[in-house]
Amino acid sequence: MELKQALASAVDRLEAADVGSPRMNAEMLLMFVLGVNRAYLYAHPERELTAGEETRYEEVLAQRSTGMPAQYINGHQEFWGLDFVVSPAVLIPRPETEHLVETVLELARGIPHPKMVDVGTGSGCIALALAHELKSAEIWAVDLSSEALEIARANAARLQLEERVRFARSNVLAVIPSQDFSPSREPALSLSKGTSIAAHDDFRDFDFVVSNPPYVGFGEADKVQRSVREFEPQVAVFAGEQGLDIIGPLIEQAHRALKPGGWLAMEIGYSMRDAVVDLLSPTMWEEVRVVPDLQGIPRVVAGRKLNEQS
Ligand SMILES: C[S@@+](CC[C@H](N)C(=O)[O-])C[C@H]1O[C@@H](n2cnc3c(N)ncnc32)[C@H](O)[C@@H]1O
Repeated sequence: MELKQALASAVDRLEAADVGSPRMNAEMLLMFVLGVNRAYLYAHPERELTAGEETRYEEVLAQRSTGMPAQYINGHQEFWGLDFVVSPAVLIPRPETEHLVETVLELARGIPHPKMVDVGTGSGCIALALAHELKSAEIWAVDLSSEALEIARANAARLQLEERVRFARSNVLAVIPSQDFSPSREPALSLSKGTSIAAHDDFRDFDFVVSNPPYVGFGEADKVQRSVREFEPQVAVFAGEQGLDIIGPLIEQAHRALKPGGWLAMEIGYSMRDAVVDLLSPTMWEEVRVVPDLQGIPRVVAGRKLNEQS
């Protein structure tokens, strides 16, 4: 079959399956299968596909027709201008999360060696974008999911940032000792040389706790896109009935993990501003701010641990 015929029938097929932007998807999947760019598709419409290429194209079209996000098929998503590998074990990084990175960079200006932890790192996109920008920061990336941590570590290596970011498995900010790094074999949880966090110890003395936590309430599941509900990890998306089951403990534990004057910055759901701001008690937090996204939707909430000396 010629390339242009394969494309035309793929567009019809994706349209019939109700996949949005069928031409763009058909082209993108063919580019992925052939390992070529869009210019090649237009320059060689008469190129014959091999039997192997036809079979592979057929497979990825079948996957995409089920609603599986293209990023889980081709395994990549760009974030902060960097290329991240993704798998169904991690949330696909979203452009709106770049507002969180921007907010943290702004708040970190003037701090010479900020010590940061990204809670619920997933693909590692936030921690690695921060490491890319802040050459002298000490950065930890933690997640409950071991599979997510594997992807985040792979991304650190691909981006040549593995010496800059340390990883640990944790429930919010409580480190979970892993079998590979059990206290008997290895007294610390550090995965790279340098600073380490002792097993069973929690995080302390940080300048920043940063997080894009799961924040969708089970009650709002029907408002979330079908592809998110069906294909993205539930643990990355949902957080109890109201969506606050991780944000609540995060605020509490971040207060313990931060230095006085340190910042907690987190992404929130579109209707959560008041509920989250209410959790940042003025007896513990100051300078609370809400950052809207380009559509004016409150997207990031940040607050500073009250400096009791001030
Ligand atoms: C919304 S995703 C964010 C992923 C990534 N930081 C991003 O912005 O694309 C939330 C992440 O939190 C992790 N997570 C969920 N519950 C957690 C918990 N109790 N402790 C630590 N991480 C948790 C999930 O595994 C998931 O990777």
